[in-house]
Amino acid sequence: MKGYYGQYGGRFVSETLIRALDELEDAFKAFKKNKEAIKDLNYYLKNYAGRPTPLYFASHLSRHLGVTVFLKREDLLHSGAHKINNTLGQIVLARFMGKNRIIAETGAGQHGVATATAAALFGMNCKIYMGEIDAKRQKHNLLRMKLLGAEVEVVKKGSKTLKSAINEALRDWVKNVKTTHYLIGSVVGPYPFPEIVTYFQSVISKEAKRQIKNFIGRLPDAVIACVGGGSNAMGIFNNFVKHREVKLVGVEAGGKGLKEGLHSATLTKGRAGILHGCLSYLLQNSDCQVADVHSIAAGLDYPGVGPMHSFFKDTDRVEYGVCFDNEALEAFRLLSRLEGIIPALESSHALGWLVKNADRFKNQTVIINLSGRGDKDLGIIEDLEEIDV
Ligand SMILES: Cc1ncc(COP(=O)(O)O)c(C=O)c1O
Repeated sequence: MKGYYGQYGGRFVSETLIRALDELEDAFKAFKKNKEAIKDLNYYLKNYAGRPTPLYFASHLSRHLGVTVFLKREDLLHSGAHKINNTLGQIVLARFMGKNRIIAETGAGQHGVATATAAALFGMNCKIYMGEIDAKRQKHNLLRMKLLGAEVEVVKKGSKTLKSAINEALRDWVKNVKTTHYLIGSVVGPYPFPEIVTYFQSVISKEAKRQIKNFIGRLPDAVIACVGGGSNAMGIFNNFVKHREVKLVGVEAGGKGLKEGLHSATLTKGRAGILHGCLSYLLQNSDCQVADVHSIAAGLDYPGVGPMHSFFKDTDRVEYGVCFDNEALEAFRLLSRLEGIIPALESSHALGWLVKNADRFKNQTVIINLSGRGDKDLGIIEDLEEIDV
């Protein structure tokens, strides 16, 4: 059925939004066929964001683990993470649709910064919703958004994290749907958003496939990425999915342990449910309410996940594992020391999973998607007094 991945996906939204989603779907189809619009986007991806990003052979880490590790350096993109691929894409799409106002939600602040960046570039009116708790723990990103000209509304209701920020953004969209494009930051939400975000992030695996073939003359044995909503993972998986010989691994936040409220390992511990307009795995408490979640990485701290990941889990195309806070922190330090690269705490989860499972990949070639850089997380590290600063 259209808009579904197996049983997951769909459009569980109010009647008012169905027309807007239809309009978006039609515009997206036309956009993909429009050579001028795609040329415009590719221009900004290359000259503004900094694509293609390098695929870097991490020789010291490889020697340390006994695994040949390549890092796809999305951390080198302008504004510091893969999120800019999607925000530039959707802003060019919004312009193509004749919309001049952008709204977005943000958790870690990374998607908010990427949206505010792209909106500033194209002179668009921009409003970002951010939960009060996230606004406190990512205050530099909040400042960055304001400097970039975005209006930031701090959401003081509900969980005061990403979940409530999305609720408020959806409410705004219902009211202002004629002039406004809702720029969703991951492969979540009602159809066609999961499809649109996957399309804009697939540039990661398109490049990685070509680059790894140039390096080793074949495809890798495995590709590993962290999973919050699931966009960087979909981006790096997409062009490898049809190659069954390439193992795909998605790594969720195990947080402080797999007890309710201490983690955000949706695919590992969740069950099917509806959140933010879409049916997917969802972390729920014993009353079937959306559960509290935790991760040291603000970008992984979300109780839902994109519907295609739920489908990949049920069909065993992707293995989903967990990395705990302390393992991610160890990996964060390891990469910084061995390769001179400070990764985002989100990306450190993918790395941490490989470190603890290195024996399974001895002498194999693995690509890790380094989704973002760690500068934004230094406040968290400082608070933990993990590193003597
Ligand atoms: C650097 C980085 N990686 C990963 C994520 C998780 O999002 P997704 O699973 O959509 O890639 C975020 C979210 O903010 C992020 O900032």
